[in-house]
Amino acid sequence: MPKKSITYGSTQHPNNRAPYAKKVIAVSSGKGGVGKSTVCANLAVALAQKGLHVGLLDADIYGPSIPRLFGVENEKIGWNDDNKMMPSENFGVKLMSVGLTTPKSDTPLVWRSSVAISALIQFLEDVAWGELDYLIIDMPPGTGDVQLTMAQELPLSGVVLVTTPQMLSTDDVSRALVMFQDIKVPILGVVENMSYFTAPDTGTRYNIFGTGGAQKLCHTYGVSLLGQIPLDSDIMNLCDEGKMAVVFGKEEIKKSYQTIVEKIS
Ligand SMILES: Nc1ncnc2c1ncn2[C@@H]1O[C@H](COP(=O)(O)OP(=O)(O)OP(=O)(O)O)[C@@H](O)[C@H]1O
Ligand SMILES: [Mg+2]
Repeated sequence: MPKKSITYGSTQHPNNRAPYAKKVIAVSSGKGGVGKSTVCANLAVALAQKGLHVGLLDADIYGPSIPRLFGVENEKIGWNDDNKMMPSENFGVKLMSVGLTTPKSDTPLVWRSSVAISALIQFLEDVAWGELDYLIIDMPPGTGDVQLTMAQELPLSGVVLVTTPQMLSTDDVSRALVMFQDIKVPILGVVENMSYFTAPDTGTRYNIFGTGGAQKLCHTYGVSLLGQIPLDSDIMNLCDEGKMAVVFGKEEIKKSYQTIVEKIS
């Protein structure tokens, strides 16, 4: 398709490229690998379990995780009669990811960020999302072009920040938090992922990545701690199999995601 000319909004007066969504929530973090995509996917499914219409946009162009998390990595998107891309769907959540557009799952996208941004805008405007109660956005790590563009192109209802307990993570997340505060995106709160590990044989609790990191972060910046999710091999295994922990996991795990969703909504 011909490349669109883009009139960018500002963070003070963002465009609304998703008028079909009542609320838009971003899941972000300054740090890579802390479990943003896993948290984001499970929160989206937990919202759908409440009977809400939910869409999930994978804004991680260079490392799209959403197709595998939802077990749709072999699907390819099609186009409808109105020339709109048809989102994929699983667990009651509509999905769009650049991973659904590449010929193979190991096809790398070596794109300048301007091209990546214009693809994301296309995913907002040219996908047949239908009416949504929530559009959830899985952000790439960091505080860069994508985070800024999303805040300029969408009236974000808020951002959920994901961290692990150790300082190397909370340091990065504090920078992301300050960025979102600076650009006036409400912080819904912080999720502490991989908080603790309970040994399945003895029931002993181990704080592998330390304790209290997220609490301290929340206290320093006056934001809420939305919840703590344990480090659990079930979560990792279910992720790899495209099964959602909030559907197939242990009761304790399901509850931890569902409690966060209650707080968010
Ligand atoms: N609570 C958890 N317990 C066990 N494994 C987890 C947990 N949360 C996430 N993982 C695993 O950690 C890995 C990283 O998770 P994920 O891809 O969600 O992180 P991310 O922050 O989105 O990474 P990136 O910065 O690359 O986007 C995955 O293999 C996932 O299955
Ligand atoms: Mg991710």
